[in-house]
This record gives sequence, structure tokens and C-alpha cells, in this order.
Amino acid sequence: MIRRAPVAVLLSGRGSNLQALLDATGQPEFPAEIVRVISNVPGAGGLERAAAAGVPTMVVSHRDRSREAFETALLDALAEGPWPEWVLLAGFMRVLGATFLAAFPGRVLNIHPALLPAFPGLHGPAQALAAGVVQAGATVHVVDAGVDTGPILAQGSVPVHGDDDEARLAARILQLEHRLFPMVLRQAAEGRITVAGRRAEVRLAPGETRWLVAPPDMP
Ligand code: GRF
Repeated sequence: MIRRAPVAVLLSGRGSNLQALLDATGQPEFPAEIVRVISNVPGAGGLERAAAAGVPTMVVSHRDRSREAFETALLDALAEGPWPEWVLLAGFMRVLGATFLAAFPGRVLNIHPALLPAFPGLHGPAQALAAGVVQAGATVHVVDAGVDTGPILAQGSVPVHGDDDEARLAARILQLEHRLFPMVLRQAAEGRITVAGRRAEVRLAPGETRWLVAPPDMP
């Protein structure tokens, strides 16, 4: 039996990235296991996906709380289950600060729908369209105190088509996100990621790259 690193996922919405992570971690040889899913939004679609996979869920609202109190509540919620080695932000629409990050130094990972450091913050695909870039993409990075500024672990690129609107481009990027996040979780769980200052080093397995490219037939 392989060792499976306990992982918590934080989200706010539909949870398609969570689904990709559930599908990957559901494989018997995957070195990580999702032990808890927490949403700050009641009714988020990701909660149903987690429940369908038999993963315990909780709602921890950010409303009517200071950021510190919210982060303490998140930590309290996590403490109710197996303490996670990694925390993955999969469409989690709150910025985490020192209270939370100090509990998981270098162990909070985020997926962002843009080729960072371009287009941090909200609406990455719309920002890419507005800037007229011809390649867009997604980034998985270690979370630091900034907004989408932490060390980059892996990126994936997709072409921008002339007739793209935000929804079409976002959907194309999302297909790559669903490959990127499980790939990086495997690397993290296997202890192949180290961070030195602003840069992350990843010991790649045979056939892995840190740069995924959309297949030519991707819609
Ligand atoms: C994704 O585009 C992710 O990059 C961003 O939020 C979105 C979440 O989508 N951080 P989903 O909830 O995983 O479907």
C-alpha cells in the first residue's frame, strides 16, 4: 500500500477542479487523499461533488467575521478531521492571510486561470482577452501573502481564438486546469516540491513537464 497524504480542498463554487482532484485521488495508486472539503459559500456545487464522493464537507462562512476570525474558523474546522498536509484552493474566492498560512507554510496551493504573473486577481480569461494576448492559460502556485503572487509550480497554455468570448476561453483554460492540479498534487504528495525564496523547484517524474500545452484538437 502506498502512503496517501491527507489533503483538504477549499472552494466557493461549482467545483469542477475539485471533481478532477476527486477523480485522480480516487485511483488506488494516487499518493494523496482528500479528507475534507470546506466551502465559504453555502450551497456551492463543490459540496455536492464532495458528498457524492464520500468526502466530509463543511461550510465556514466569511460573513460577519474579521479575516482573522474567518481563518481561525477554517483552522478549527480542519482540526475536526485528519490534519491535512496540503491545502488546495480550488476556486476559493477569499484571500488568505498570515493566520491561515502560518499553519501550512508552503503547503497551500492555488490554481489560477491565467499565465501568472500576468492577469492576477479576478476574471483572468477576461483580462487576457482585453489585453489581446494570443496565448492564455492556467497556473498552479504556492500561496503566499499576496494575491496570486506565490512561487509557480506548473503552467498550461491554450491558444486564444479570434472569436473567443470570456466563457469560451475560460472553458478551454479549464480543461487544462483539470490536468494541471492533479499533476501538481501528485508532485506535492510525493515530496518532489521545494521552495527557495520566490522560486519553486519540482523534481519531475519521467514524462512530466512543468508546462502543459493544449492538444491541437481542443475546442
Ligand atoms: C477556476 O477557473 C480556477 O482557476 C479559479 O476559479 C475557477 C474555479 O472553477 N481559481 P471550479 O469551481 O473548479 O469549476
